Amino acid sequence: MDIRVAAMAEGLVVSDLVAGYGGGVVLEGLSLDVPAGKSVALLGRNGVGKTTLLKTIMGLIHPKSGSITFAGHRIDRREPFQVARAGIGYVPQGREVFADLTVEENLLLGDLTASDADAVYAIFPALAEKRNSAGGRLSGGQQQQLAIGRALMAKPKLLLLDEPSEGIQPSVVDEIATILARTVKTEGMALLLVEQNVEIALRLTEQVCFIDQGRVVASETAAALRASPALIETHMAL
Ligand SMILES: Nc1ncnc2c1ncn2[C@@H]1O[C@H](COP(=O)(O)OP(=O)(O)OP(=O)(O)O)[C@@H](O)[C@H]1O
Ligand SMILES: [Mg+2]
Repeated sequence: MDIRVAAMAEGLVVSDLVAGYGGGVVLEGLSLDVPAGKSVALLGRNGVGKTTLLKTIMGLIHPKSGSITFAGHRIDRREPFQVARAGIGYVPQGREVFADLTVEENLLLGDLTASDADAVYAIFPALAEKRNSAGGRLSGGQQQQLAIGRALMAKPKLLLLDEPSEGIQPSVVDEIATILARTVKTEGMALLLVEQNVEIALRLTEQVCFIDQGRVVASETAAALRASPALIETHMAL
């Protein structure tokens, strides 16, 4: 094991990943690290493969080549439930809340061994008030809280979050970001965040990776991007 791999052994290490759908390739040798307890954002134009990367990490897509290790173990041939058990939580783009199930039922699906959802209600008090409402009757912001809460039920060591601000009004995005930042810190959780909202990405993460043509083409600290916002335009225009 070389020094870099040893240092990353407790986190997520994606190496030379090639993956896509059917015969088509979307990720063409993508490499990315999320060290334990660190937060990384992934930025890139529509359709470059951000969601495909998260699905591949989660085991929903099996890569054609390359490797994914988490906490020192290969996970790229595992099924989604095994990846979840390894400590990775997933909040899909578009939230995918079960509309006909209650808030509480949605949450309990996040951890089938749980007898209550009190820990999540403490994080998102708005969900406690709605615990008996159908998921489909919640506002967009509440559904996003529910999708995050469902992923938190299993107490993940790494949370994959796909565009949580999409379609949600700014004041609610702000509130969710505040709660997320606090939770990530108190739980010591790592975060891999896909986000179009650059302000939210910079607020929640320390490192920002730019993806284009199936690879990570640049990586900057959030501090560097805050100091020179023009860098964002440069990397996004690649
Ligand atoms: N189920 C699928 N079958 C075939 N092709 C797909 C499928 N899902 C996505 N694609 C294609 O794979 C490419 C990458 O899609 P992906 O959803 O990963 O992009 P993205 O970066 O998440 O985009 P967005 O910012 O719009 O969410 C696109 O060309 C898309 O059309
Ligand atoms: Mg996407």
